[in-house]
Amino acid sequence: MEKLQLISGRGNQTIAKKISKLLRIPLTPIKQETLADGEIYVRVLNSVRNSDVFVIQSLSRPVNDNLMELLITIDALKRASAKEITVVCPYLCYSRQDRKAVSREPITSKLIADLITRAGADRLLTVDLHVDQIQGFYDIPVDVLIAYPLFAQYLLKKKYKNMVVVAPDTGAVRRGRKLATLLNVPLVIVDKRRPEHNKAEIVSLIGDVEKKTAVILDDIIDTGGTVSYLADVLKERGAKDVIICATHALFSKEAPQKLQDCAVSKILVADTVELTPDKKIKKVEIISMVPILAKVIKRIHDGKSLGKLFKWEDKEAPL
Ligand code: R5P
Repeated sequence: MEKLQLISGRGNQTIAKKISKLLRIPLTPIKQETLADGEIYVRVLNSVRNSDVFVIQSLSRPVNDNLMELLITIDALKRASAKEITVVCPYLCYSRQDRKAVSREPITSKLIADLITRAGADRLLTVDLHVDQIQGFYDIPVDVLIAYPLFAQYLLKKKYKNMVVVAPDTGAVRRGRKLATLLNVPLVIVDKRRPEHNKAEIVSLIGDVEKKTAVILDDIIDTGGTVSYLADVLKERGAKDVIICATHALFSKEAPQKLQDCAVSKILVADTVELTPDKKIKKVEIISMVPILAKVIKRIHDGKSLGKLFKWEDKEAPL
C-alpha cells in the first residue's frame, strides 16, 4: 500500500499538527515562503513519490494567499509524482458565492473548484459546506464532514432545558432541522434579508421562542452581524437564553466585540479556522473536528467506507 503522508499549509497549522499527532504520522517537511513581491514559494522537502498525500489547508484569512499556497503545493506534489492528492480543507473559502444572485456576478465557488481540480487534486475533504450543491462543482470525490452532531452532543451533555433550534435564514433550515431532530426539539425559522454585503435584516420569525433556550445554528460567523443581531431579537421576543453554534469562526472585523456585547451566553464553534488570541473571547468554546478528520483521513487511505462514521444520519428527518 502507498505511504500516507500529511502536509500542512500555513492556513491552520494547529489543526494539522493535532491531526498528525493523533495519527502518529509526522508532517512531511515543507518550505513555504512569501517572497518580497508577494509571490509564494513552496518546496516539499521529502520524497512523496507514489505516496497517498493529504494536504491540510484551511482557506481563511489571508484567503487568497492561502488558496494560492494550496494550489502551488498541489502542483509541487503532482510534479513530484505523488500517487493520490487529497485536499483536506476544514474551511473552504468563497463558498457563499455559489450562484448568480444578480446579473453580471461570478460563481466564484465554481471557479475555486476548477482551480483545485485543475491543479491536480484527486479528492476534497471538507467540513460544513455553505450549501451542499457545491459538491457538484467538483468532478472529483468530495467528502463533507458535519459539525452539528458534535454541537448536539455538547448541548445534551450540558442538559440545557426547553431548547429550540433557530435557523438564521431559509438556507439554514435543512441543517437546523437536522440538529432539532437530534435534540428532539422544535425548529424556529428566521426570514432574513441582506440589503448589502455583511448587513443582515430580520423580517420575521416562524415559531415560538418565549421562555426557551434558543440555539442558533449557522455555518459561518463572519462579521458576527447575523448572529449578534438575531440573538438580540430573540431576547426581545422572550427567549430565556441564547446559544450560538457555528462551524467556521471567521470572526472578521469587530466580530469578537459584537459577540461579546450581544445577548448570548455561549458560543460553540469548531476549530476549522484558527482563532488568534485576540479573537478568543470568553463566551467561545471550541469543539474539535480533529478526531473525526483524523479518522476519515485514515479510512480514505485504507479505502474504507465513511458511511459507518455517520450513524447519526439514521435519525435525520427526511428532506
Ligand atoms: C449566510 O448565508 C451565512 O450562513 C452566515 O449567516 C453569514 O455568512 C454570516 O455572516 P456575518 O457574520 O457577517 O453576518
